[in-house]
Amino acid sequence: MASNTKSNGSAAPAINGAAYPITDHSYDVIVVGAGGAGLRATVGCSKAGLRTACISKVFPTRSHTVAAQGGVAASLANMGPDNWKWHMYDTVKGSDWLGDQDSIEYLCRNAPAAVYELEHWGVPFSRTEDGRIYQRPFGGMTTEFGNGPPALRTCAAADRTGHAMLHTLYGQALRHETEFFIEYFAIDIIMEDGRCRGVVCLKLDDGTIHRFRAQLVILATGGYGRAYFSATSAHTCTGDGNAMVLRAGLPLQDMEFVQFHPTGIYGAGCLITEGSRGEGGYLTNSEGERFMERYAPSVKDLAPRDIVSRSMTVEIREGRGVGKGKDHIHLHLEHLDPKVLHERLPGISESAKIFAGVDVTKAPIPVIPTAHYNMGGIPTNFHGEVVIKKGRNPDQVVPGLMAIGEAACVSVHGANRLGSNSLIDLVVFGRAAGLRAAELVTAGAKQAELPASSADLALSRLDGFRHAKGDISTAELRLRMQTVMQNNCAVYRTGATLDEGSKLIQEVWSAKDRISVTDRSLIWNSDLVETLEFDNLIVQAVVTMIGAANRTESRGAHAREDYPERDDVKWMKHTLASIDANARTVAIDYRPVHSQTMTNEMHSIEPKKRVY
Ligand code: SIN
Repeated sequence: MASNTKSNGSAAPAINGAAYPITDHSYDVIVVGAGGAGLRATVGCSKAGLRTACISKVFPTRSHTVAAQGGVAASLANMGPDNWKWHMYDTVKGSDWLGDQDSIEYLCRNAPAAVYELEHWGVPFSRTEDGRIYQRPFGGMTTEFGNGPPALRTCAAADRTGHAMLHTLYGQALRHETEFFIEYFAIDIIMEDGRCRGVVCLKLDDGTIHRFRAQLVILATGGYGRAYFSATSAHTCTGDGNAMVLRAGLPLQDMEFVQFHPTGIYGAGCLITEGSRGEGGYLTNSEGERFMERYAPSVKDLAPRDIVSRSMTVEIREGRGVGKGKDHIHLHLEHLDPKVLHERLPGISESAKIFAGVDVTKAPIPVIPTAHYNMGGIPTNFHGEVVIKKGRNPDQVVPGLMAIGEAACVSVHGANRLGSNSLIDLVVFGRAAGLRAAELVTAGAKQAELPASSADLALSRLDGFRHAKGDISTAELRLRMQTVMQNNCAVYRTGATLDEGSKLIQEVWSAKDRISVTDRSLIWNSDLVETLEFDNLIVQAVVTMIGAANRTESRGAHAREDYPERDDVKWMKHTLASIDANARTVAIDYRPVHSQTMTNEMHSIEPKKRVY
């Protein structure tokens, strides 16, 4: 604490004439983000004896992990046969062969231990009759390498699994010496000679500037769902870490792969868990037909999300949507035993009532595919270390920088994530990052002083927005961005929609010079913070659109009507997109998919047509 912090204002750079006194802090490890991944990494680093600070723009238990419903995947085999190799097979196939198989092996092998750890730490999982962790089926999770019946693999705490995990992890973090910096908004990372040295933050409640120095910075800042108009994501899901990485001149990976969850509540966007279909729910069109039987004859409503969302979109487009505008689909739960609804799906029963006015025991829920998850993000290896392509090395580690959770692209989800694989990703790779940190970081090691100018870029960006006197409000620009993303880069894409989208989204990017911020204060200034968040979102929206326009194939969540087939010869590779923030240009490169496994206990899974 006192030894970690110089609170007397070590420097007061004048940016455009305004003085910004800085409070300096020094830690072994800084974790930015207090969702499931950030908290799990924080626990690991603290337990390893590293002085660890966790910085979060919201109170930790309000992080978006809290909204995850249906469960966390692990092959516990509590309710039927299962093993990690089947889980791995399903995840590789679900990823449409864009996932890195070494990382997927790491995920699936370590998943059961990660869930037992959560159980021992206190997560109140639902139980089977004989007291074991309850597991439900989820989309794309099968047995016998895809040849057997659906696997019961998704461990659930009713339909509030993320809530239970987040609260338990926060409790664990408090047991250790972690220091939390809550409601601190991270503006930018500090890079020096290719190494990450820290992060610059704005403390929201008093407007002071804080510079954190660390041997290692772990970004766990989540996804950027709010680049879209209709998203299951919270208002806070603005991918701040991703944008910091882009501004630091580093690339993001596979950003064109945006998952649309099949069952967002029509008009409201709130999530109705896939677990509802796991418990026996099903979708119908305006003819009352269970149309998924046509698209995925063996697993039907439990097909992976990309396939269900595409199928729903086709039904609506071909005139078989429900409702006045024939523009959505029905999800039926009314045939389920009310006891099941009460015990296993209480949260979504309440959401349906509040947001759709539907009593799920009596009527179907109106649903529509809704932006939900970003498969793309900051490229890392399976230790959580950020990697870049340098010369002939596609996996060069960036010293001092890690990324985990939805912010990262490790890449276990490839082109399409299977439901319940995100919660397991958070804890497996959060733990991995803690283990790696313990190897890389020496507790209490002396760190070189940061250059005096190390906060200048972040502060001039802050100052620029604070005094922005243009003619367009942030809210208006954000709406424009969200509309372009929703119209031009959704479930189905074509060259024409993406080319138009690229032009329109670049226009929004350019228009940020005309932004207007009316409140000049630094204290609780939501206009300023939302502007910083918009600035983070827009660069991610741009690289998403351009990455999508460049990828001329269909794979997972990237469905091109003009290129309907997957093209492994040309496109089994990760997109790397970086920006020149001043010139407002995007550069695209590619790096190979890791098709080899981590150990020789499991052979590589060869690509084949994805049928369910
Ligand atoms: C859900 O319960 O459907 C969401 C959880 C996830 O995205 O894995």
